[in-house]
Amino acid sequence: MKAVRIEKFGLDGLSLVEMPAPSQPRKGEIIVKLKAISLNFRDLLMIKGLYNPDQPLPLIPCSDGAGEVVAVAEDVQSVKVGDRVVGTFFQNWNAGPYEKRYGKAVLGGPLDGTLAEYICLKEEGVVPIPRHLSYEEASTLPCAALTAWNAIVEQAKVTPGQTVVVQGSGGVSLFALQFALACGAEVIFLSRNEEKIKRAKELGAREGINTSRCENWSHELKELTEGRGADVIVNVLGADLNECVKSVSFGGLICAIGILKGVRTEVDVVSILMRQVKIQGIYVGNRLMFESMNRAIEKLNIKPIIGQHFSFDRYREAFSLLESGNHFGKIVIKMAE
Ligand SMILES: NC(=O)c1ccc[n+]([C@@H]2O[C@H](COP(=O)([O-])OP(=O)(O)OC[C@H]3O[C@@H](n4cnc5c(N)ncnc54)[C@H](OP(=O)(O)O)[C@@H]3O)[C@@H](O)[C@H]2O)c1
Repeated sequence: MKAVRIEKFGLDGLSLVEMPAPSQPRKGEIIVKLKAISLNFRDLLMIKGLYNPDQPLPLIPCSDGAGEVVAVAEDVQSVKVGDRVVGTFFQNWNAGPYEKRYGKAVLGGPLDGTLAEYICLKEEGVVPIPRHLSYEEASTLPCAALTAWNAIVEQAKVTPGQTVVVQGSGGVSLFALQFALACGAEVIFLSRNEEKIKRAKELGAREGINTSRCENWSHELKELTEGRGADVIVNVLGADLNECVKSVSFGGLICAIGILKGVRTEVDVVSILMRQVKIQGIYVGNRLMFESMNRAIEKLNIKPIIGQHFSFDRYREAFSLLESGNHFGKIVIKMAE
């Protein structure tokens, strides 16, 4: 089969290789013919050696992929040949609180990932694809969508009339926008790009703040919320945490998710305690949450926002676009029929 592998760290270290396809599933395993793969910022960090510099190579990158089941081991009960499935980010985090051991079974590092024609997974490492979604749309769900769902629904429990801030127009943020709107919230969309703000408003965002002309966006946010601040902030930038602290309402929640702007920053602790700000770290989500999310996506007819499709052989261009930050929504690689 064809697969892309990280042979050495860096985008130049990616190679398209020919390797044996998995053919015989062992106990509890299934084989999936991948139809679509979606990219996440994490994949870029993994490729560059910034996620885990000790990751053994070669490694097939990417955590997210959707496809058709082509073989199952004799004892497999929950999945059958022909099923349309999407892989789970954590292959073994089924339910309950996160434990360290789950981090050892993540696709795209440390386990081989989805940027290949076939993949062998445990039967509990996949969930069915919502009926109204294509393989390309379904491939966007395991990391970005589930992270946003965990933030907006599982942790923040957003209710109608609340104000939610999302930052940037990447995968996590646009899913957070869609889920927040579905919960009846008003969304304020932060972006460095006026055209992207226009597109987010077309999707339902109430207001946009262009962060390229005001780094200290808390002032504008306060004005837009008549001084109250936002109930929930989905923070994917990381290093602007203090700006989030200043922008959240009394007792409001900051979901700490991303590091697009860096991993270290100074935070005003007095402001956190006096304004009773809650900060919740989010690490994707478990299979149970994935199943709940898929039911909601199907019921509400939510369609993932895909910015651009690439064919498998154009994988380098796909990663370059991701690196540029110029995309709007998910970047998807489509396998040949
Ligand atoms: N904790 C978790 O479980 C989890 C799960 C998924 C992702 N993440 C993290 O969440 C973050 C977002 O992930 P993603 O996959 O959604 O990313 P993505 O799709 O690559 O999002 C990129 C978008 O963010 C904005 N952006 C990029 N770099 C920026 C910068 N330096 N300053 C300001 N804005 C910037 C841009 O939007 P504009 O052009 O509109 O500004 C860009 O389109 C990443 O740090 C990722 O590692 C964490």
